Amino acid sequence: MQAEVLVHRPVLAEESPRLLVTDPNGVYVDGTFGRGGHSRLILEKLSPQGRLIAFDRDEEAVKAAAQIQDPRFQIIHAPFASMKEELAKIGIDKVTGIFLDIGVSSPQIDDPERGFSFRFDGPLDMRMDTSAGETAAEWIARADAAEMAKVFKDLGEERFAMKAAKAIEKVRTKEPILRTKQLADLIAATLPRNKKDSAQHPATRIFQAIRIHVNQELEQLKRALESAGSLLLPGGVLAVISFHSLEDRIVKKFFEAAANPASCIDPRLPLLPSQLPQPLFNRAVRILPSEKECEENPRARSSVLRGASRTDAPWPEQGVQV
Ligand SMILES: C[S@@+](CC[C@H](N)C(=O)[O-])C[C@H]1O[C@@H](n2cnc3c(N)ncnc32)[C@H](O)[C@@H]1O
Repeated sequence: MQAEVLVHRPVLAEESPRLLVTDPNGVYVDGTFGRGGHSRLILEKLSPQGRLIAFDRDEEAVKAAAQIQDPRFQIIHAPFASMKEELAKIGIDKVTGIFLDIGVSSPQIDDPERGFSFRFDGPLDMRMDTSAGETAAEWIARADAAEMAKVFKDLGEERFAMKAAKAIEKVRTKEPILRTKQLADLIAATLPRNKKDSAQHPATRIFQAIRIHVNQELEQLKRALESAGSLLLPGGVLAVISFHSLEDRIVKKFFEAAANPASCIDPRLPLLPSQLPQPLFNRAVRILPSEKECEENPRARSSVLRGASRTDAPWPEQGVQV
């Protein structure tokens, strides 16, 4: 399928660049280019001196970025967890703002060949970067039931995680599980429908879990937050849009710990106030999409934008633990 015909509508499109861009002459990072909806809006806010470095681990997204012919813009094909190393390669060690709109893009979900969705039949791939790593089919073929159940439970919050894992283990002794429909049908035949939301396909949580696992999404996010803390100039903003509670929890905890690092210190230690670690970020704001946006773009419904500005306290070597 041609990636160009698949579109992605940016969520919180007004709020995100407004929160992020504090200095039009600054250097900004969009860690999740996708189809560049947010990148274009950020560029609109920058002066001729401003710069925007975008990242995406998906080659289709990187190809789509060629449409932006703007000397202030540059795209890097790399995971955002390695933004610090990648920026160092082009001589950047400090930036004014960092934006992440995490998760998958509509073009990824809507292309059956990428294998992200149980709505279409396609190869069970699910990698955002199809040039590296293990596919979902390869993982399902090699993981034992305990490993699969742990992923389904931890990353999909699936109540019947072991039941699903055992069913997969049984079926794969007879035939390899290579297609999205094959897996979706197998899960639908094994798990009961969600009582609270009977419209939800029984494979929803399992697909989410496999996708997060195959792409190491939570580890990527934690590493990116840490890099962002050390890259941002004082006053610079880190803004993150997440789409489900596992990610949002990590972002929320990171900002809470970074705004109050003294809370992580044992209160019994005899420290003077001046010896306590200083806030690394100011208090974060939380912004939700308007009702109008949710009506116009149902994908926006689960989105949460959190953002905060960096203080001038030096970033600690041990980082912020979340
Ligand atoms: C929700 S979309 C972003 C859409 C974008 N803001 C827009 O307006 O078009 C997420 C994008 O981030 C990319 N992505 C997700 N995790 C990534 C990671 N760890 N490193 C780099 N890119 C990532 C995906 O490949 C996808 O293209």
